[in-house]
Amino acid sequence: MYQTKIEFFYCCCMKIEKTLHSRIDKINFNHISSFGNHFSDHMFCSEFRNGEWKNSMIKPFGNIWISPISLVFHYGQAVFEGMKAYKDKNEEVFLFRPKENFKRINKSAIRLEMPTIPESIFMNGLKKLIDIDRDWIPKNYGQSLYIRPFLIAIDDGVLSAKPSNDYLFMIISTPADSYYYKDSLKIKIEEKYSRSASGGVGFTKASGNYASSFYPTKLAKEEGFDQVLWTDSSTHTLIEESGTMNVFFWLKNKLITPQANENILSGITCNSILSLAKKEGIDVQERDLRVSEIIDGLKNGVLKEAFGCGTAVVVNYFKTISYQGTDFSLPDLPEKKRISLRLKKNLLDIQHNLSEDPFGWRFRLKKFST
Ligand SMILES: Cc1ncc(COP(=O)(O)O)c(C=O)c1O
Repeated sequence: MYQTKIEFFYCCCMKIEKTLHSRIDKINFNHISSFGNHFSDHMFCSEFRNGEWKNSMIKPFGNIWISPISLVFHYGQAVFEGMKAYKDKNEEVFLFRPKENFKRINKSAIRLEMPTIPESIFMNGLKKLIDIDRDWIPKNYGQSLYIRPFLIAIDDGVLSAKPSNDYLFMIISTPADSYYYKDSLKIKIEEKYSRSASGGVGFTKASGNYASSFYPTKLAKEEGFDQVLWTDSSTHTLIEESGTMNVFFWLKNKLITPQANENILSGITCNSILSLAKKEGIDVQERDLRVSEIIDGLKNGVLKEAFGCGTAVVVNYFKTISYQGTDFSLPDLPEKKRISLRLKKNLLDIQHNLSEDPFGWRFRLKKFST
């Protein structure tokens, strides 16, 4: 895909092939057009074969060759993560809570009957890759390098519906602008389709969860919505999450989020927002949240704010929630009065090393000597 000249060396028990033809001048960091368009110069790969992890390496970003028999194509054994690296004013680099992503990808892997990734492979691969590509991390407030670790089944033996023997773990990254997905979102409470079901894989970042959400989301977009707000699959009376975001509601002076359970991804941003809100003394509740509470709150004017949060968007507030064909508008608060934006700023300040880190979330990425 990309022509490279290569420089070889070994570090942290991994082979490193560095490109001599960086593509970094192709990107305007002051105007990163859209998310996921440009990928940094290198990628990390490690293989699981014959029951052991081997061949860890960093190499120039490019296409990979795997057999069409690979079980990822047929039975969907694939899990992934999303995380970010930030720069501070002195261009020091910080990963945000990377060990949480490490733990979560392995939780997902176990549920999909895939091998877990050793911490040394995940963390050394991540640290070395981001160090090599540190120039790809944008410098402005809110900008970041979005990092995508993923694990796929690559068995090329027998095409049968069983777990793969062989797997490939990779990490790639893409510069991300400070962006609102949109200034504010118009959301539809979904009552027909479901994202996850009891006993299923909703709590994991299994790729199939996203594939199955595309069609209902497309239908909602055709109706003029930005996203669907998922509800539980059996009764459609409990709020779950929205797109790639966990959700919060500022209802009757309480900040409420549906309790993460087997149907809801336990979001690292959500968890961080909860901690920040509690620290501010906000009355926070993680619990089952009924659709009827939201609709009553909208009708009675006691639902003041609603927002989604996740690694990609950080925080994005909702302006309209639609239920059974009726659109309910949320109060049009000035930005300064929004709890969502205050919590977002508190989080970004920690991520960019602009404020204290009372929870120990920042992970300083030292420069390697090579
Ligand atoms: C379905 C889903 N819910 C919630 C989130 C938010 O999780 P996090 O804050 O860890 O990015 C994501 C994004 O990863 C997601 O894909």
